[in-house]
Amino acid sequence: MNQDVWNAVDHHFGEAFHPSDDALEAALQASAAAGLPQIAVAPNQGRLIEILARLTGAKKILEVGTLGGYSTIWLARALPPGGVVVTVEYEPKHARVASANIDRAGLSNRVDIRVGAGLDVLPKLHGEGAGPFDLSFIDADKANIPAYFDWAVRMSRRGSVIVVDNVTRGGAIVDPANHQPDVEGVRRFTEVAARDDRVILTALQTVGVKGYDGLAIALVVADP
Ligand code: SAH
Ligand code: DHB
Ligand code: MG
Repeated sequence: MNQDVWNAVDHHFGEAFHPSDDALEAALQASAAAGLPQIAVAPNQGRLIEILARLTGAKKILEVGTLGGYSTIWLARALPPGGVVVTVEYEPKHARVASANIDRAGLSNRVDIRVGAGLDVLPKLHGEGAGPFDLSFIDADKANIPAYFDWAVRMSRRGSVIVVDNVTRGGAIVDPANHQPDVEGVRRFTEVAARDDRVILTALQTVGVKGYDGLAIALVVADP
């Protein structure tokens, strides 16, 4: 098995189940043209978080790591009128590109972009009484996943879902010689979340157009 096969299979199902559209394509193109890293979720992952948002009946969604707003568009499309995605982005340039992409997709009335570091913005949101968020998508700097996960749980309700991207990193998490901050972040998240009675969770390894990585999916089972 190799990357070419993974790409072909992703395209096979993608064409069938969720062919791309102008707004999503334009978001990717404008992001690339502006020099943003090309690390948005794959289309099937976008559809997955859309489905999870719809399953929870989401009216409020939290995202950490906006980039150019590609995943934000998938999430915002799952919302009923009056719903909102609050999305946190550290880089002002990324936030500006995202804002234009979200505007072009006709979703700016459903998206609230907060520019700042997740570790600053999430406590602020908590202090404002934001939430409870029905779905949270954690996809920013990986070293801070444990803290982002804790804030997401605190701003959840029983029945909320929390998705954490990039938890496998090509298998690096089980390589004892690998001590990169992102890998250590995922390991600490695993330890802490495993002991957290507020949630049940699992992790799925994925292959596809983004290579070999994975997602953790948590269900909040207590009233935080
Ligand atoms: N969710 C996006 C991809 C996000 S990439 C999508 O799928 O389309 C990760 C993003 O997290 C980058 O834009 C990066 O600038 C941002 N980021 C990095 N460190 C951060 C921090 N401390 N707080 C908030 N965002 C951060
Ligand atoms: C990287 C970050 C991501 O969120 C992702 O999905 C893939 C790669 C990265 O920083 O390399
Ligand atoms: Mg990611």
